[in-house]
Amino acid sequence: MTWRALVVDDDPEMLASLLMRGRKHRQSWTFVSAQGGQAALEKLRNDKFDLLLTDLTMPGTSGGTVLSTAREVAPETARFVLSGRSDRWMAKEASAAHQIFTKPADLDEVLGQAESVIKARAFLDSSEIRAVTSGEGAPPSPRIFAALRAALSEPDYDLNSVARIVEQDMTVMGRVLQLASSSALGPRRKVASVREAVVALGKDAIEQLVLLEELMGAQPAQERDALRDHALLVGRFASALMPECQESFVAGVLHDVGHLMCSEPDTASGRHGYLGSYAAALWGFPINVVDAIREHHRPPWGKQANLSSALWLADRIADNGPSALEDPLLTRFDPNLTLRWREVGFRILQQEPNKQEDAHRAAGCHR
Ligand SMILES: [Fe+2]
Ligand SMILES: [Fe+2]
Repeated sequence: MTWRALVVDDDPEMLASLLMRGRKHRQSWTFVSAQGGQAALEKLRNDKFDLLLTDLTMPGTSGGTVLSTAREVAPETARFVLSGRSDRWMAKEASAAHQIFTKPADLDEVLGQAESVIKARAFLDSSEIRAVTSGEGAPPSPRIFAALRAALSEPDYDLNSVARIVEQDMTVMGRVLQLASSSALGPRRKVASVREAVVALGKDAIEQLVLLEELMGAQPAQERDALRDHALLVGRFASALMPECQESFVAGVLHDVGHLMCSEPDTASGRHGYLGSYAAALWGFPINVVDAIREHHRPPWGKQANLSSALWLADRIADNGPSALEDPLLTRFDPNLTLRWREVGFRILQQEPNKQEDAHRAAGCHR
């Protein structure tokens, strides 16, 4: 059996070239093409697809309409955009998309991302899929974070364009300004613009803050604060346990995002891990992050350090404090690793003495 992709473009040459490039993936993918938005709508209504890959600017029925129709009629289909332009207009038009690629995109990469989505989806039933892709209260894909990360990865990024990205969302912008001028980060200072806030907070902090705000923005204030505190704490713990892994902080911040998509509080089942993992795959986070989120309530089985076991332990330390470090499950690791992680664990707990209790409360949803 192969996976099915619907490829949409108004330009027949572009379609032909995509199908041509797709030939080398024919063992695992079947490509169906639609020339223009109207043809795409008909195919979406009459057939099932794992991936929709659509152009945005098309005469008549636009890519935006194709995407929002797919959200309604085919919530299990991953919605990717392949566009010739990238600007602010596009972000609005593509608001129902999960991921955006610019032409000429590397088809291997596009299909790789889609496969990670399909694998994460396999753990869910159809109502859970709907809860993530079109459910009430599910956070939209963290678009500003993605744009910001791309901008900040340029070796000499331009502060004004970074500020413009943050300014796209009022809530995110408000929070950035608030935090930059708060005393939480040293002496209070006056911050008059987002540009100054970016300078004051620094590159890493601004990325983390924007990710958290985008994910938590729609939640009621009290819940949001508890979730945010717990997310940040686990992020810090995970990156202390595994500083060699670039994604450890992001995995920690995202690990409980599935709670935002559960219709009722998720107790012992760990379903929120599966939901969160699917969301992270849809949003294009790397596969190690996707896997670690899914497994963060499952006791580790490998002997060596990997992101999944670091995240599992970080979450346990945040929930249970020092007793997490006495857990016999830790002896499953290679003895040197057990020793190292115990040491790191005690050190980070010493640095966060007053956080232990908050963490406990925030994690109440876990047990
Ligand atoms: Fe959790
Ligand atoms: Fe957690």
